[in-house]
Parts: sequence; structure tokens; C-alpha cells
Amino acid sequence: MKIYKANIVYTQHPGSFDVLKGGCVAVEDGRVVGVASDASHFAVPDAEVVDYGDCLLIPAMNDMHVHASQYRNQGIAMDLELLPWLANYTFPEEAKFASLSYADSVYRRFVRDLWRFGTMRCVTFATTHYEGSRRLMQLFQEAGMGALVGKVSMDRNSRPELCESVADSVRHIEALAEEFGDPEGLVRPIVTPRFIPSCTPEMLRACGELARKYNLSVQSHLSENTDEIAFVRKLEPESRNYADAYLRYGLFGQQPTVMAHCVWPEDEELQLLKENGVMVAHCPTSNLNVSSGMAPVRTFLDKGIRVGLGSDISGGHDLSIFRMMAYAVQVSKMYGKYCGGAPFLTLPEVFWIATKSAGSFFGKVGSFEPGYEFDALVIDDSALNYDNYTIVQRIERFIYLGDDRYITHRYCRGVEIPEPKV
Ligand code: GUN
Ligand code: FE
Repeated sequence: MKIYKANIVYTQHPGSFDVLKGGCVAVEDGRVVGVASDASHFAVPDAEVVDYGDCLLIPAMNDMHVHASQYRNQGIAMDLELLPWLANYTFPEEAKFASLSYADSVYRRFVRDLWRFGTMRCVTFATTHYEGSRRLMQLFQEAGMGALVGKVSMDRNSRPELCESVADSVRHIEALAEEFGDPEGLVRPIVTPRFIPSCTPEMLRACGELARKYNLSVQSHLSENTDEIAFVRKLEPESRNYADAYLRYGLFGQQPTVMAHCVWPEDEELQLLKENGVMVAHCPTSNLNVSSGMAPVRTFLDKGIRVGLGSDISGGHDLSIFRMMAYAVQVSKMYGKYCGGAPFLTLPEVFWIATKSAGSFFGKVGSFEPGYEFDALVIDDSALNYDNYTIVQRIERFIYLGDDRYITHRYCRGVEIPEPKV
């Protein structure tokens, strides 16, 4: 057993932070045994004690929607809405990933920077290319960080070099499912039809069948942008709505599913999200940058729809899930003002969304309750903590003012993760 001493902050419930000043987290076999105010509580006299002094110890971050393959475009090309943005900037960049050496160089930097910002688990899009997607999985494995990696499936409405046959897509995903076949593995493939406009009905059907056959999770985009939704309505006249189209192809909760955005959900889509246990990846910066709108996150919470946060690089420009929390609160404030008065999100709520709620997609991840995998960050906020701040004020200030320099140690599944090599 190992016992980590520090100021402990986590969220069992969305309403408030659980805080233990000068507390202990006991960890065995990568899992939390319990939290207590004193090490003697665990009655294991030979337990190794790691004392992080006055630092904060919090659950690590989960990024529920991020395009590894768009990392080079981070912070550029913010002048178009979604569909022309994809055609003019995103698809040309993703086409470069036909080169394994290009993929390797971008993906190395991506994995290292996720590490920097304390994101120990992510759900990510690679590209349609098999070799590059496999390399991204290898890099996460070498790093010891958790990732569900999507070799993207696309066979229409893109550049010819990004489109593939259904047979090739199936063959490549099967190869990855077999190579990364350990169901308990930290790195697993995730079935990734890009979105309805990118996939023929045959491709969508094949994706649903693959997910079931290999017991894989599913990710895609849902109801992000009004032009996109109008396009889907044309492409899928027999579906009742965008979510129903995924459902009909076996891609909406038949296997664990995360859908990015849901900025414009119809009532029936909200119902389908809830009934099928589909998680929404809320990506506030992306929704601002590509001018999609503001997602009704309070409605998701009220209806018991699962939610996590996503950076959505490079629609989003910021890889930090901490800053994503602040953006999520800010966007919810504007949503409340301009769209019907819903109460805005609080900081403990977005912390819970980013940790325990998002983490549930990976199993028992995102909390320090007994049985949870020990994914954790040590934060030395002494430079921000120059006055008599409470522990809650310190975590608030770190979220709003801090950055990767304040994160001194990172753990995933109980193992301290060193900086990955670029
Ligand atoms: N919808 C389909 N592809 C994408 C993408 O790459 N980014 C975003 N934000 N939305 C998408
Ligand atoms: Fe996206």
C-alpha cells in the first residue's frame, strides 16, 4: 500500500467539493483504498508514505473529445463555420497523415502536451489512416496514459484521399481491435464514424456491427451546427432526427457511446441520449470558435444525461481541461442570459463533469472513492497561494489562473507518469 499525503480535493457529487486539508489517499494495486485525515486510519504500519506537503492532490483530467490529428492546426483557421472549416482547413491537414513520419511527429507532441496539462485519459480521433492511428495508440501505450483512439471511418463528402472503402475500414479496425485486444488495457480502439455526412449508410451499418462484434465503444459528432443538421436531415430522410439516425445504425448506446457537442438537440434527441446512456462531450471553446452555439448543459444535467468535457482541438484552441471548466461556466452564464434563464453551472459541477462524470466512460475513474483507479495530479500552487486562501479558493484560483507549470506529478492507474519523449 502507498499513502499519498496532501490537501485532497475531489467531487463525489456535483454540488460541492470534497475537501480534506492535510489528508491521505491510500492506494493499492492502482486503486484507491480510501481517504482519511490520518495515515494511521489504514492500519498498515509498513505502508510507504509519499508526502506532498501543502500541495493539492486532485483526480486527473479526462478529455472526452479531441482530434489528435488536428494538433498542428491548433489556434489557426478560426474564420469559418463548421462545414467550410472542415473542407478548407481540416481535411487538407488530416490528409498529411498518410505519411507515418508526419503522424509520428504530430502525435508525439500531442501526447506530451496532454501529459503536461494533466489529462491522463482521452477519447480521441486520429485519421482514416491505419498506420498513423496505430502509431498514436503505441505512443499512448509507451506513455502509460489511457486513451480510446479512433481510426476514423469516412467514405463520402470529403477529399478522395481521406475516403476509404467499407471493406478497408472494417479490416483496419479489426486489426487494431485484435492488436489492442485486452479489454482492461489502457489503450483501446474506439469505433469512429466521423459524422453522418462523412459516412454512407453501408459504412455506418458496418461501424455498428464492428462495435458489437469486438465490444468496442463508439464516438462521433451530434447536432453541432445548424448547417450540418440541415445536411443530415437531407441525407437521412427516414430518420426522425440526427440521434435516431445513429441509433438505427447501431451507433447510439448499443455499445458505450460518446457524442461530441449536442448544441442543438431536439427534445426527442435528449430523450434518446438519456434512454441509451449516451455521454455528451461538451466542447465550449470549439462551439464558440466554429460559431456553432451554446450547448444546453444545465438541461443535460437536469435530465440525467451523462456529460464530460472535451477540448475538441482544433475546433477548440485550448488543450487544458482546467480552462475548459472555466469556459463551460462562462458559456453557461451567457446561455442562461440569452436562452431562457437556466441557472449557470457552478465550479464544483464542472469539476465533477470533467472528473467523475467523464471518468465513468473508462470504468471507475475520476474520483478518490474506494475502488476508483488512482488517476491523480499533484499541484504546487504556492505561487498563487500568497494569502490565507481556503483549499476551495486555491482550487478555484488554480482552475482559473493556473497552468501546466503548477502540475508537479501525474498518476494514471496508480503509476507515476514521466514526461513522454517527443
Ligand atoms: N464534425 C465532423 N468532423 C468534425 C471535426 O473535425 N471537428 C468538429 N468540431 N466537428 C466535426
Ligand atoms: Fe470534433
